[in-house]
Amino acid sequence: MFERVLTRNFGLPRSESIDTYLASGGYEALRKVLREYTPQQVIDIVTASGLRGRGGAGFPAGRKWAFIPKDPQIEKYVCVNTDEGEPGTFKDRELVEKDPHQVIEGVIIASYAVGAHRAFVYIRGEFFLGVKRWIKAIDDAYAKGFLGKNILGSGFSLDLSVHRGAGAYICGEETALIESLEGKRGQPRKKPPYPASVGLWGKPTLVHNVETLANVPHIINRGAEWYASIGTPKSTGPKIFCVSGHVKNRGIFELPLGVPLREIIYEHAGGMAFDKKLKAVIPGGASTPMLTPDQLDIPMAFETLEGAGTMLGTGAIIVMNEDTCMVDVARRLMRFFAHESCGHCTPCRTGTQRMLALLEDLEHGRGKAEDIACLEEIASKMRGLTFCPMGDAAANPILSSLKLFRDEYEYHVKYKRCAVAA
Ligand SMILES: Cc1cc2nc3c(=O)[nH]c(=O)nc-3n(C[C@H](O)[C@H](O)[C@H](O)COP(=O)(O)O)c2cc1C
Ligand code: SF4
Repeated sequence: MFERVLTRNFGLPRSESIDTYLASGGYEALRKVLREYTPQQVIDIVTASGLRGRGGAGFPAGRKWAFIPKDPQIEKYVCVNTDEGEPGTFKDRELVEKDPHQVIEGVIIASYAVGAHRAFVYIRGEFFLGVKRWIKAIDDAYAKGFLGKNILGSGFSLDLSVHRGAGAYICGEETALIESLEGKRGQPRKKPPYPASVGLWGKPTLVHNVETLANVPHIINRGAEWYASIGTPKSTGPKIFCVSGHVKNRGIFELPLGVPLREIIYEHAGGMAFDKKLKAVIPGGASTPMLTPDQLDIPMAFETLEGAGTMLGTGAIIVMNEDTCMVDVARRLMRFFAHESCGHCTPCRTGTQRMLALLEDLEHGRGKAEDIACLEEIASKMRGLTFCPMGDAAANPILSSLKLFRDEYEYHVKYKRCAVAA
């Protein structure tokens, strides 16, 4: 059985408290780093571990750390992305609510490695318990000397504070997050330059997902080789998968990257609810193209899912059974993306609204045959042509559902009702 790493403390009483964390060996990695390693050595260890970002894009963490300029005269920042707004994704919230010190220890080690003395938590405003847990954990870490001036007598200092967002999905995108932290309207910035060179207040900034940072203390404690031995050669380490939809046990499951999708659904999530037939799976959150039942043996790793024309994304698996209307799924997803479009660029602002209107017409029996072609044209013209990746995110589920379930769209046009409900 796989030994849980990131969620190992979740079942303990008061798992969120600093005492529980310390009792399980917490903050030992920080002591080790401050005593034994130079910042460059920490970067080398994280690079050798193969850790890839868990926020969706899977960029190698060590490489990102190495991009931050070394000049001590240049001020740098670290931001913890706790915005988590992708439908189907709920792992970061669990990490913050159940074991926040694991993330804080990761933040301190990352800040030491890149030479930052100021770090910020950006958290979705609706996560009331998460905000409370972050604040309490940070206070306790200050009280024990893990944060603040001259941490554990090492001469390294770091301040960490919490910033609440107002619940806009786009503020999870790293440059929009930075704009929002600066007190402006959360809209993406043009990239390049990337935040690693020009970020918060124009200074180099490391933005990381909560789960990515939670891995860091374990890599230090147990070594890069141990970490790289988990998962696949290109997707190393443990991963928290969130499973929702028509399965018996919905929730989070920590497993090694590369675990087959079938095992997650039929073993860990208990199989299909009411023993219905599986129809489609969204493997990595609302923005990732769907898979069909013949693809269940696919390993859940960055490279294998890319090879299958989809993405690991945040590892949020949404399972749909035979009674699911795919036009309805497309409409619901588009309602989310149309609502969350920040409005900055026309293809996304107008494209999502137009696609939503077409999907509403199709679903409610008002659609015409040419609407399907129109939907496809808008989605394909949005891909790659919007200011930020949110345009692709909105187009992906539409294009994949049209590719896999076009007959259902045609049925809606022809019979003015749903093939599934018929
Ligand atoms: C529209 C959009 C929304 C995003 N939302 C989040 C989010 O809520 N949390 C997150 O960690 N990353 C999110 N990302 C990814 C971030 O931009 C960034 O890549 C990530 O925080 C980097 O951390 P990582 O390297 O640890 O994955 C989003 C990206 C896009 C395009
Ligand atoms: S793609 Fe959408 S979310 Fe991104 S900048 Fe354009 S309007 Fe805003």
